[in-house]
Amino acid sequence: MDSTHEHVKENGDSTNHDNNNNNNNNNHASKKQKLSPPLITDSEIQQEFSHHQPGIARINNGSFGCCPSSIISTQREWQLRYLRQPDDFYFNQLRKGIIESRTVIKDLINAEDVEEVSIVDNATTAAAIVLQHIARSFVEGRYQEGDAAVMLHYAYGSVKKSIQAYVSRAGGYVIEAQLPFPVTSNEDIIAEFRKALEKAKSNGRKIRLAVIDHITSMPSVIIPVKDLVRICREEGVDQVFVDAAHAIGNVDVNMKEIGADFYTSNLHKWFFCPPSIAFLYCRRSNMQSDLHHPVVSHEYGNGLAIESSWIGTRDYSSQLVVPSVIEFVNRFEGGIEGIRKRNHDAVVEMGEMLAKAWGTNLGSPPEMCSSMVMVGLPSCLGISSEVDTMKLRTHLRDNFRIEVPIHYLAPKDGENKARDNVTCVTGYARISYQIYNKVDEYYRLRDAINLLVEDGFTCRMLVSN
Ligand SMILES: Cc1ncc(COP(=O)(O)O)c(C=O)c1O
Repeated sequence: MDSTHEHVKENGDSTNHDNNNNNNNNNHASKKQKLSPPLITDSEIQQEFSHHQPGIARINNGSFGCCPSSIISTQREWQLRYLRQPDDFYFNQLRKGIIESRTVIKDLINAEDVEEVSIVDNATTAAAIVLQHIARSFVEGRYQEGDAAVMLHYAYGSVKKSIQAYVSRAGGYVIEAQLPFPVTSNEDIIAEFRKALEKAKSNGRKIRLAVIDHITSMPSVIIPVKDLVRICREEGVDQVFVDAAHAIGNVDVNMKEIGADFYTSNLHKWFFCPPSIAFLYCRRSNMQSDLHHPVVSHEYGNGLAIESSWIGTRDYSSQLVVPSVIEFVNRFEGGIEGIRKRNHDAVVEMGEMLAKAWGTNLGSPPEMCSSMVMVGLPSCLGISSEVDTMKLRTHLRDNFRIEVPIHYLAPKDGENKARDNVTCVTGYARISYQIYNKVDEYYRLRDAINLLVEDGFTCRMLVSN
């Protein structure tokens, strides 16, 4: 199977992905582009998302992302190529297509070498790769029982579980950096992170791993990831893994500037790919490490990128559309950078509008927001647990057709009454803005919450599912 992959046939039907590499207007390659495609119109944008269920105020791009219909069509073409002639697809098209996608991603993230970029299903899989690698270091005696790992308190739930499953069970001592929320400055985050490193180093422990989010999920805040990676280097942390599930298409992503050992981002959240696809960047100096895909197949031992490009028979089409997504984003003024800037500006404007209408506050200053903003909900809604946030979210879906996740913030001791003459906010809505959104959808959320407040609603009135 290995050798046959080298006989890539130059067949005529590979134009779709061949052309796109030259047309790669992204952060680090935009100067190359000469011929700009015509800009997309508003009605074409509507068309691209006409498969979205009508009537739903879908202001939650952050959870599942979105995929335009032209990319769904391209994905279908890839699926049909496989179904039409699987042998030709396998021997002549798949490997070549995946290398093209990896090359596009390498340029997009300013990696040194395409070998540093592997394509996997999602950020969860990427975390498993990195954390299993760390676990093997414990099990095989390179790390000692009690060596430390540091992660953020607001790390994503599945990543926390993975750290527990792989690192704690292998003997690692895990410390959480307590992040302030609401947060007013990067310095507050940096100070808490330093405290966690100090705690981890107490008793002479070595810190083997730091797991740092680039954008936390809930509550959503941009983390000063470059500063935290630099501090890890100064403090002698062995390996730094950045969980940046939300990053590509949402914030600037530059591997040379960030300097982490491992960095993963989904492309199905903010980069218009169909589910599911993520990249895992492994810095060149780590490439000889014992890194493996959790699903072992024929390519075991041939390097992570190659292992990941064949993990058994399955649908690889979402991994093959990346060059077409570059063409799609280049139909927007400023390409992906223009998209994310406009999304950011719009979501901040909508967040400020909602906070003003409800007499609350944003969870962080605008410069710490990506295309997602945390907006305080009126305290009279009586949000007093995680269960309440789920009940309210379901109520908004079922009764107002609004899709928005809600974060519960437990009041600190003595804080549950008045604070600076403002009653304490215990619930924050996480609103997202993506190119398909309309301002009306945020006004609908404003009005729905105002109606609940006027009606004297509280979460206690709702039964759990
Ligand atoms: C910060 C963070 N990490 C990891 C993940 C997991 O992503 P996936 O479910 O695509 O693996 C998410 C998903 O929302 C996330 O927000």
